[in-house]
Amino acid sequence: MLNFLKRKYDRFFESSKLFKIKRFIQENFKEKNIGDIGFDFKDKPHRFNIIQEIINIKNYKTYLEIGCFANEVFNKIKILEKIGVDPVSGGTIKATSDNFFKANTKTFDCIFIDGLHKYKQVKKDINNSLLFLNKGGIILLHDCLPNNVFDQAVPRCQYHWNGDVWKAIVECRTHDELDVYTCYADMGIGVIFKRKNTNKLSINIQNYSKLKFHDYFHNYKKFMNIISYEKLLKIL
Ligand SMILES: C[S@@+](CC[C@H](N)C(=O)[O-])C[C@H]1O[C@@H](n2cnc3c(N)ncnc32)[C@H](O)[C@@H]1O
Repeated sequence: MLNFLKRKYDRFFESSKLFKIKRFIQENFKEKNIGDIGFDFKDKPHRFNIIQEIINIKNYKTYLEIGCFANEVFNKIKILEKIGVDPVSGGTIKATSDNFFKANTKTFDCIFIDGLHKYKQVKKDINNSLLFLNKGGIILLHDCLPNNVFDQAVPRCQYHWNGDVWKAIVECRTHDELDVYTCYADMGIGVIFKRKNTNKLSINIQNYSKLKFHDYFHNYKKFMNIISYEKLLKIL
């Protein structure tokens, strides 16, 4: 019952009717618009092609997708076993990622995190995924490279939305035992390997949720460890 009411509440506050008001609040009372970074993903590979290519190259057998929506990716993925988790639509299990992980006993070779695009939830999804990742596996995350403050604003204030997933990538980049990249394709695909960090980020911050869009705007190259798709295939 509580989950049902929470979902109704979330959907009301994510409705397009409220976007205009939230955009007005963002523009006038929150972090100011400092323009576009200029990311252009037009000629870059789609997330489905990236995920499927990695599965094929690594001969992965098990896939988990967190947040499936219309199954645009989930239905197309070819692999021995796949599970999709979404509390609203798509996938194979109707649950929030938190509830799924509480009950889960399976482990996975490839986990694609594309659920709620808010730093705290993404951080939880990453930590839970790390517990259920097979040796030699990979975690991928969608929407790691917002172009402007409206694309990353929390609360969401427009239809096109990346959220602040990027903050979770910045935090992971500071860990000794996580090797973390962002592939320059399809809104930025975060890539996490559970192995020695080859390019550790040094940053003096305790609470990553406090990072601002302008920090990212001026430091995204250093923060995100951006690589091309071709480079990603080489470092698998
Ligand atoms: C951007 S869509 C996913 C798109 C899909 N992965 C694709 O590639 O086309 C985000 C989805 O995450 C789901 N979602 C929201 N909160 C979630 C949560 N706590 N756990 C899992 N999924 C969640 C939403 O219901 C929505 O369907």
